[in-house]
Amino acid sequence: MEAWWTFLLCLMTVSSCWAGCVEVESETEAVLGHEFKIRCISCKKRGETKAVTFVEWFFKERGLEEFDKIFIYNYPEELVVDERFTGRLLWNGSKHTEDLQDMSIVISNVSYSHYGEYLCKVNRTLTFDNHDYNTNVTKRVQITVVPKENRDIASIVSEIMMYVLIVVLTIWLVAEMIYCYRKIAAAGEEAVPENASDYLAITSETKDNCLGVQAQE
Ligand SMILES: *[C@@H]1O[C@H](CO)[C@@H](O)[C@H](O)[C@H]1NC(C)=O
Ligand SMILES: *[C@@H]1O[C@H](CO)[C@@H](O)[C@H](O)[C@H]1NC(C)=O
Ligand SMILES: *[C@@H]1O[C@H](CO)[C@@H](O)[C@H](O)[C@H]1NC(C)=O
Ligand SMILES: *[C@@H]1O[C@H](CO)[C@@H](O)[C@H](O)[C@H]1NC(C)=O
Repeated sequence: MEAWWTFLLCLMTVSSCWAGCVEVESETEAVLGHEFKIRCISCKKRGETKAVTFVEWFFKERGLEEFDKIFIYNYPEELVVDERFTGRLLWNGSKHTEDLQDMSIVISNVSYSHYGEYLCKVNRTLTFDNHDYNTNVTKRVQITVVPKENRDIASIVSEIMMYVLIVVLTIWLVAEMIYCYRKIAAAGEEAVPENASDYLAITSETKDNCLGVQAQE
């Protein structure tokens, strides 16, 4: 099922399956004890231009007022600077390059202390025409932590619809087969049709309803 959805999603956003950059929003519901990817994608405005990018992640725990810096990624340097995240935070963005477009991170083993708001601050320096252009982009992600996974309504509804459809179609098929079988059996019992017009009436009727079954007789 999971693979199927991924495939569908790929079809819809074809370019993300290729090398192109698409700014996909992060998911926001983390499940306690599981790993969770906080997505942060910031595409270059000029894809062909070389850039040097570094990112800082900030976190404001639910109920607190201020953001704390939790993570710095400045290739090849990678540093977790908050004890709530030590050993639990992994880089999951662009690999082996300082020209980052995907700045995502993964929290392994989510706990309730990870409930809150995250900031992904991207600092990018583009170089063209012998000039440096500095841009900064900040993305906010609000993360909730839930004890168990909630499946989203759409996928539940579509699954139920699928089963209902299968059952309805099967019943319809069986009913149709029984109906045809009876019709043909009844036609067979009348060994000799009383006259030619009766015979024609029966065959044309059975032919209409039961194409194929008639032919096998
Ligand atoms: C990072 O992302 C890749 C897909 O881009 C995934 O296969 C991998 O499992 C992720 N790493 C972690 C630690 O979750
Ligand atoms: C996940 O974290 C909890 C505490 O928050 C700890 O008790 C548990 O052992 C951890 N599980 C793993 C697989 O690290
Ligand atoms: C981005 O980084 C450059 C170089 O370190 C620095 O001069 C600049 O102030 C930074 N911009 C922001 C918005 O942090
Ligand atoms: C980030 O860039 C915008 C323009 O794109 C600028 O207005 C803003 O002051 C910058 N922020 C910092 C912290 O430099």
